[in-house]
Amino acid sequence: MGSDEQAIADRISELKEILGDDLLILGHHYQRDQIVMHADVLGDSFLLAELAAKSNAKYIVFCGVHFMAESADILTSDKQSIVLPNMRAGCSMADMAVLHDVEKAWGEILEQTGLCDPAEPESGENFLIPVTYMNSAADLKDFCGRHGGIVCTSSNASGILEWAYERAGPKGAVLFFPDQHLGRNTGLSMGIPDSRMAVWTPGEKNQIPSDVKIVLWHGFCSVHKRFTTTQVDDFRSRNPNGVVVVHPECPREVVDAADANGSTEFIRRFVAKQEPGTHIAVGTEINMVARLDKQYPELHIECLEPTICPCSTMYMIHPVYLMDVLEKIVEGDIPNQVIVEKKVQEGAKVALERMLSIKQ
Ligand code: 13P
Ligand code: SF4
Repeated sequence: MGSDEQAIADRISELKEILGDDLLILGHHYQRDQIVMHADVLGDSFLLAELAAKSNAKYIVFCGVHFMAESADILTSDKQSIVLPNMRAGCSMADMAVLHDVEKAWGEILEQTGLCDPAEPESGENFLIPVTYMNSAADLKDFCGRHGGIVCTSSNASGILEWAYERAGPKGAVLFFPDQHLGRNTGLSMGIPDSRMAVWTPGEKNQIPSDVKIVLWHGFCSVHKRFTTTQVDDFRSRNPNGVVVVHPECPREVVDAADANGSTEFIRRFVAKQEPGTHIAVGTEINMVARLDKQYPELHIECLEPTICPCSTMYMIHPVYLMDVLEKIVEGDIPNQVIVEKKVQEGAKVALERMLSIKQ
């Protein structure tokens, strides 16, 4: 660490000390090491949402991306403030589904399939249940809460789909957004065949068959779509006894070719339990993979895509921004506060609390 970097790290530690129990710093696994070293807890989206919901800290500084901070705001009291060190830290996948398009799709799918809206429980026996991935804006979570739906994360997606199908009725279906890959991979793992899945591409003419089980929004993660089966084959040819673990945001062929898949926290635990000497290829964001490699020198860890870039928005949380927001909090200001509108909070909280009650 250079002397400037060290000075910033030292100042962050001092500011943390001053704020004491009033402050909680939550860090996602994709954050750079210079941020992770200051996090009180490191976790996946589920774990961090759960911790925010349980915390009494006055200030929760979220070192992650915008949808995570929004969810924390919804799950905490009005007396607590959620701060995102850089307000531009969003998620390109989350931006792929916007409320207007989802509402339009919702109406058209109900019409095409003859399914009912759970917001009108008396209207029939078979329903369309909306399920939004955590990586989505708060108004989409609110939409799910208002229409009998739920939020999921990559750590509990199959439990969430089971929850949804229990409520959908025998011929019911799920509308899953925004990540088609997580939806498809989870559906396949539960035995839903390809023939009962359909993709909804906003802005195009979509025809949904009436026996559909899951309608997948055409969204994806630009980091995880870069993993391929050629990379898996290459790794296996170099390491016949090696193991491959990937995030379920990867395309289906890659998940099928891997030995295991799961959330970032799942990946961390999977790596931790491998025998010394094992060669492991990890299909997820590079900051996390590089950190695992440093933490477990007895293992041979590599990224499945050797040239992969980091998640550019997670990387927007720079230590200088973290230091700046802490300085301002100590001065009595609340900078970069993420505040979800009251009218959106209600339904979103219902959908998030349903999600938190379902662990994998
Ligand atoms: P996790 O919930 O697995 O941490 O995933 C969040 C994410 O954005 C992965 O790209
Ligand atoms: Fe969004 Fe992909 Fe970055 Fe996760 S890795 S925050 S899904 S862009």
